[in-house]
Amino acid sequence: MGATITRKNRCFGTRNPLARALAFTCGVFFLGAFLFRSEAADVRTAILKTATSAKDAVTSQRPLNSYYSEGLGDGDDTPMEKWESADPEPTKTDVTNSSRTPSMECGYDMDRLCDWQKKYQLQPKFEYVKRYVQVSRQNIPRKSMTKLQQQFLPDFMKVVDTKKTYHAEECPEPLTVPVTMSPFPNTANASDFMFGVSTTYQRFTDPRTSPVKEWTYWLTDGQGTSNGGKLILMLINASDDDLEHASAKLRAAGIDADIFRSNPSMPMAVRYLTLVPTMYYHPATSTKRWLVTADDDTFFPSMHALTEQFEQYDHTQPMYIGTLSEDTQQTARHGPSAFGGAGVFVSVPMAHLIASNYDTCRSDAAVRAADSGWGPQGDILLRRCIYDHSDVRLTLLHSLWQLDLYGDPSGFYESGIKPLSLHHYRGGGWHVAHPWHYTKVASVCGEDCTLQRFQTGDNFVVANGFSVAYYPRGIDFDANQFERTFAPAPEDKGWNLDYAMGPQRPALQGTGRKISWDLQEAAVQADGSVSQVYVRKHDDWRWKNPGGSWMSDVDGVMELVWLPEGRE
Ligand SMILES: *[C@@H]1O[C@H](CO)[C@@H](O)[C@H](O)[C@H]1NC(C)=O
Ligand SMILES: *[C@@H]1O[C@H](CO)[C@@H](O)[C@H](O)[C@H]1NC(C)=O
Ligand SMILES: *[C@@H]1O[C@H](CO)[C@@H](O)[C@H](O)[C@H]1NC(C)=O
Repeated sequence: MGATITRKNRCFGTRNPLARALAFTCGVFFLGAFLFRSEAADVRTAILKTATSAKDAVTSQRPLNSYYSEGLGDGDDTPMEKWESADPEPTKTDVTNSSRTPSMECGYDMDRLCDWQKKYQLQPKFEYVKRYVQVSRQNIPRKSMTKLQQQFLPDFMKVVDTKKTYHAEECPEPLTVPVTMSPFPNTANASDFMFGVSTTYQRFTDPRTSPVKEWTYWLTDGQGTSNGGKLILMLINASDDDLEHASAKLRAAGIDADIFRSNPSMPMAVRYLTLVPTMYYHPATSTKRWLVTADDDTFFPSMHALTEQFEQYDHTQPMYIGTLSEDTQQTARHGPSAFGGAGVFVSVPMAHLIASNYDTCRSDAAVRAADSGWGPQGDILLRRCIYDHSDVRLTLLHSLWQLDLYGDPSGFYESGIKPLSLHHYRGGGWHVAHPWHYTKVASVCGEDCTLQRFQTGDNFVVANGFSVAYYPRGIDFDANQFERTFAPAPEDKGWNLDYAMGPQRPALQGTGRKISWDLQEAAVQADGSVSQVYVRKHDDWRWKNPGGSWMSDVDGVMELVWLPEGRE
């Protein structure tokens, strides 16, 4: 038996490489069995099945481990087993040359694990699974759910103790997923579009609200070069220095942007309307087809799909394209305008019409008429300007999303959808999501595979980029329906969202039938693979059994590493 090197707290321990190497060779590690506690008997069968398929020999067993507050409901098998390596020598794969072909490496990078523990406030011992996913690009249509024969978990859920170190293991066969041959985000050409956004200098610079990273996704090739899309940024209350700073920041990111100071004495609704003439009179408009107003929390995850969609419309005609709120209550409240957060697209002839009537459209009377009871609304001002001066009416594009959703947005992002826009993902009352991280994986598997779902033989569903969910009682529901994990803004009539989403199936929160790891970060690595980090907290309010007990008492991290095609 190898000696276990235990430090007082490994996460704050020495980073001395010799000590680390010693610890590495002497490591002992633990294998945890399936750690979900469920009241259902069939889960037990699944656990046993998973246990017997483990390829590593279990040499000794440990009674109910010490850090479980309660044992397993049925009290028969052990939730955690101890395994000692027969071969204390590390079998580490050489990763020094990572220029072209990513290699698989299933070691335990304790520095990273400790970083996650701190960042996500995980327990000192938490589950960690690393799974490689091999992309197979094929001439197939995009499926909302792709069923795979393979198991997501080839052996056990492993529990790592951040006070210890472990030697590397052999990686299981990667999960192989068929995906379409959809284009990669870095080849998008957005030169037909000019985008106008109005925000405050403070929101622009605050790391919690700054949209710069998101803009690099949909306005550049990700390598510091513009994709042709032009940004007109109106900053409120910015000094000359602020404008210079903002401009330098956008230039450094490769975003082709012109920045204007907007007049803080204008009502917000008028500032929004003013984006249209500001874009229209910009010299670059002579090469554009579509002028788009958006919010600073509007995200376009699929630029190829967006540009293809707009090739279907006649840009030589005055056109007004957008979407209503998916919440009929919001549409009733604010009227049938294109909701700005989802993106509002006007053709250049339409922008000409708005610019020509700007003075009337922004008059005090017009601003008063745009008050929905919730203050004057820019969206209403724009709609009234168009409707009062033309016969053009809104062209609905349902795949744009305003996302007026509260609470847990999982049911939307886990629906297998390929949205053309996303909005309201920065919290502050609305939902929290990280679309910039969600779309990272598209650089490996193409634009179609963001949020695409893959169901494995052992009842896991990867909603790519958003979550990995496990359904201990099986996928016994219609996965084509949205799960109603979220709520519309009050008043919730129960059917507010049905028109846009179809009736939603009941949420599985608190039923013991679902538990999920949600994506917190993703990164393209030097070798071209993409690492995704999915985190689950044991005391997540959603993952309870009907009796009120936690489905798992242990926090967990799942790391998926997506391998591009062409790997040796
Ligand atoms: C990595 O491998 C490539 C091709 O096999 C080779 O050209 C390159 O020199 C190697 N780089 C290092 C740092 O070994
Ligand atoms: C992008 O599209 C524009 C207009 O459609 C075209 O002129 C330009 O050549 C395209 N750029 C690239 C890099 O394909
Ligand atoms: C702009 O600055 C003024 C004075 O500093 C302040 O009163 C106002 O609230 C600011 N407006 C916005 C939109 O931040």
